[in-house]
Amino acid sequence: MEHKRRILTGDRPTGRLHLGHYVGSLRNRVRLQDEYECFFIIADLHVLTTKNSPEEIAAIADNARGLVLDYLGAGIDPAKSTIFLQSAIHETYELALLLGNLVTVPRLARLPSIKEMAQAALMDVETIPFGLLGYPVLQAADILLPRAHLVPVGKDNQAHVEITREIARRFNNLYGEVFPLPADLVEGDTLPGTDGQAKMSKSLGNAIFLSDNAAAVRKKVHSMYTDPNRIRADIPGTVEGNPVFTYLDAFDPDKTTVAELKERYRAGRVGDVEVKDRLTSVLNAFLDPIRERSASYAAQSGLVDEIIYAGTLRMREIGAETLREVKKAMGVAGTFNRIARKAEERRKKLAR
Ligand code: TRP
Repeated sequence: MEHKRRILTGDRPTGRLHLGHYVGSLRNRVRLQDEYECFFIIADLHVLTTKNSPEEIAAIADNARGLVLDYLGAGIDPAKSTIFLQSAIHETYELALLLGNLVTVPRLARLPSIKEMAQAALMDVETIPFGLLGYPVLQAADILLPRAHLVPVGKDNQAHVEITREIARRFNNLYGEVFPLPADLVEGDTLPGTDGQAKMSKSLGNAIFLSDNAAAVRKKVHSMYTDPNRIRADIPGTVEGNPVFTYLDAFDPDKTTVAELKERYRAGRVGDVEVKDRLTSVLNAFLDPIRERSASYAAQSGLVDEIIYAGTLRMREIGAETLREVKKAMGVAGTFNRIARKAEERRKKLAR
């Protein structure tokens, strides 16, 4: 167990996960669980960098729980991996503040991802808040706290892992070797939306969620974009770039039937309805075990909370150890710790 290399990755709790997440990251994470010691972060503090109205904050708890149910449903196994809530790790806040001194404002400001997140949140890109500018620093704290070796992320987050490496390198050079330099593992695959747009995304409204029931899947599949030139079943159709076939390629285990369907589609010998019926049953067969697994976790009262709680405790222990080493290496342990310990003792005495 202890000799395994560590992975840290995760998501902001902003909504339920969909098939695009499954193909892009989830299935890969499930596979990596045996080879690595995996930590999955529910990055609720990162949500606050773009969404911090009382209403938006109120939605985070449900989203976090939904995210964990999607993880568990997809096959992330709490007996193998650690799932934890970022905001409950006090050490993350401390480390993020210390790491902020090891990166410059221009280095952060020229990241396209920061501007993109601001734009997506309808913020003024000329007056980006300090917290959003510090998004990658907070992410560096997430990654460096468990001293992760590998960080599976989407393309949009690759630059953040690069900054994390720069910060770790700078720390090690200044104060001594505390951190391994984390490598990024780019999660490549994307899935088009049901509307044929390049990417499935909740905000585009073109997603099939892991938590959609069978009827919802049927409805979404039957209103999917296909070849727009094909107004009748006897007109030869185009398979390439047709999302219905992209999904069949991704999820239908029966490659022979898919190949045969493609042939008939190209020849104008199959109607859209038949293809969509097949895709509906393929997707529902794929989603059934996922839905069953998350339903069984959800049905056991308190279990999901218990899983997050246990993971959070474990991360706190690991984090405290890293933070001790960080402070020792920096030479701040003496002043910071002695005074802080005394103040904490005094506070406890007074509270009695
Ligand atoms: N930035 C990630 C996202 O786009 C979430 C995240 C926060 C993360 N901390 C991380 C991912 C650490 C990988 C490693 O939602």
